[in-house]
Amino acid sequence: MSDEVARDVSAYLAGELPAVESALERAVSRIEARSDVPADQAAAIRHGTTTGGKRLRPILCVTAYTACGGERADAAYDLACSLELIHAYSLMHDDLPCMDDAKLRRGRATTHREHGEGVTTRAAAILIPLAALQALHAARGLRCAEPEARRVAMLLMQAAGAGGMVGGQWVDLLGEGKALGAEELNGLHRMKTGALLAASLEIGAVTAGASDDVRTGLLNYGRAIGLAFQIADDILDATASADVLGKNPSDAELEKSTYVALYGLEEARRRADAEIARAIESLRDPGVESPELEALARFVVERGS
Ligand code: IPE
Ligand code: IPE
Ligand code: MG
Ligand code: MG
Ligand code: MG
Repeated sequence: MSDEVARDVSAYLAGELPAVESALERAVSRIEARSDVPADQAAAIRHGTTTGGKRLRPILCVTAYTACGGERADAAYDLACSLELIHAYSLMHDDLPCMDDAKLRRGRATTHREHGEGVTTRAAAILIPLAALQALHAARGLRCAEPEARRVAMLLMQAAGAGGMVGGQWVDLLGEGKALGAEELNGLHRMKTGALLAASLEIGAVTAGASDDVRTGLLNYGRAIGLAFQIADDILDATASADVLGKNPSDAELEKSTYVALYGLEEARRRADAEIARAIESLRDPGVESPELEALARFVVERGS
C-alpha cells in the first residue's frame, strides 16, 4: 500500500468512526434502558461493545450501502452496527475460559475478567436476538420493502449461525492440538470470520436495493477479504506483541490450526494477498466503482493490529 493510499484509508476509517460509535452508543443505551436486562448484564454489554475496536464490519457495511446508492443516515449506521453487535458477542464468548481463555482485549481486561463468566456468557447471548431485531428495524427505517428487510435479518443470522461464525468457532476449538488440512482450514476461516465479513457487504447491498450482479460482486469481495482477514489475524498473532495488538498472542500456546502453522509466514502472506486481488477483481466484474472498498481490502492485510 502506498503512503498516500494508507493515509487515505486511515482518514476514511477515522471519518466513519464517530457515526459508528454513536450508533453503538444508541444501541447500548437502549439495552440499558430495558427493564428485562439486568444491570450487571447491561454493564458487561457496554464493556464488550463500546470501547475500542476497528469497527471494520459496520464500516464495510455502510461503504457497500453507499457504493450501491444508499445515503449515510443514522439508520444506515444502526443497520451496520447490527453486525458489530454480533461481532462483539462473538469476542465476549471467544475470550471465555472455555474457549480461548483470553485476559486482554482491545488493550483492557476481557469482559469476563471484569464482569464474571456467567454474566458475560448471558450478556453476550442477549446481543444475538437484539442484533437481528436491530437489523430488521433499521432496514425498514431505510425504506426496504418487508421481504428485503426480513432477508437482511436472515442474512445476519445465517452468517452468525452454525453454518457461519458459531460453526467456525466450533471447528476452531476441535482443531486445537490437531493439524487441520488445507481444505478444513479454509472452511474454518471462511465460517468463523469470513461469513460475518461477507454478510457486512451483502447486507449493505441488499438494503440499498442493488442488482443481483452487484450484490454477488460485493458478496464475493466480502468472502475474499473475510478469508484474508483471518489469515492476517493469524499472521499478527504470530508476529506482533500484545502492546500493539491489545490482545495476547495465543495461537501457538493453544495449538490452534492457523494459516501460519500450516503454510508458514511467507506463504500465508502470499495467500492473503491473493485473496485481496480476488476481492478487487470481484468489484470489477459488475462494475462497482469504489476506491474506498479497494483501499479497505488492502487495509485488511496490511493493518498492524
Ligand atoms: C478479531 O476481529 C477477531 C477476528 C474475527 C479475527 P477484529 O480484528 O475485527 O477485532 P476488533 O473489533 O478490531 O477489536
Ligand atoms: C475469533 O478468532 C473469531 C471469532 C469469531 C470471534 P480468534 O480467536 O483468532 O480471534 P482473536 O485473535 O482472539 O481476536
Ligand atoms: Mg478463537
Ligand atoms: Mg481468540
Ligand atoms: Mg486470532
